[in-house]
Amino acid sequence: MQRTSSFSWPQAVVFLAGVLVWKVSISVLLQYRHYIPPDFDSDFLFGREEYFWGVYSWAFYAHLAFGPPSLILGTLLVSDRFRKRTPKWHRWLGRVQVAGVLLLVAPSGLCMSWHAETGAIAAAGLGSLAIVTAVCTAIGWRTAVRRDFASHRRWMWRTFTLLCSAVVIRSVGGLASVTHFEAEWLYPLTCWASWLMPLLAFESIERLGKSGLLVATTGR
Ligand code: HEM
Repeated sequence: MQRTSSFSWPQAVVFLAGVLVWKVSISVLLQYRHYIPPDFDSDFLFGREEYFWGVYSWAFYAHLAFGPPSLILGTLLVSDRFRKRTPKWHRWLGRVQVAGVLLLVAPSGLCMSWHAETGAIAAAGLGSLAIVTAVCTAIGWRTAVRRDFASHRRWMWRTFTLLCSAVVIRSVGGLASVTHFEAEWLYPLTCWASWLMPLLAFESIERLGKSGLLVATTGR
């Protein structure tokens, strides 16, 4: 008799990615002791006192309020298991997520991108990320309202992939700091690559899935 295994590589990768998202969200929350009240000697706020008080501080605290929750909510909302077990929670938390991303995370990210560390290339990368994330969230929401659930699922996976850029940026920063790798181009490059590369990976996996290639190689 043939034994069937419930293990699959895509599931294992998604699980590990979920663990990383939770780990980074918690470590970001631990940094808040430098932000409330603002400590202008801390890594991120150093040199920002000049423009902090005003629009930037509103954007900054709005961003802090919903940044980590949007990542945590994202892990729950993309889970098929969570949706099937608690469809009502999926709908309610989904509404909170759409409102939080469209009203808080994306506009505040766009506003803060103006003053991004290292200048214009990083600013353009993060500003574009804010716009693309807002567009994907809005389309994901519309497709749910129209009950086109296949498209809804795809657009909301794109949104979550884009939100995960925060995890990629911090992982690259962490790796650079433990290896003492200091290059001026690293941060601007990461501000683009942190969302373009995962988005490209997502689109490739989607296409491989549709063509049947992924099923053939992974048994998904
Ligand atoms: C649409 C997606 C996002 C955009 C466009 C965005 C944009 C930005 C920008 C422009 C900055 C300032 C960077 C700089 O000055 O160099 C920033 C900082 C920050 N972002 Fe986001 N962000 C997004 C998603 C997230 C998410 C999902 C989190 C959750 C962890 C997050 C947490 C933070 C925090 C805590 C900071 C302050 C600096 C730090 O402690 O690392 N952001 N973000």
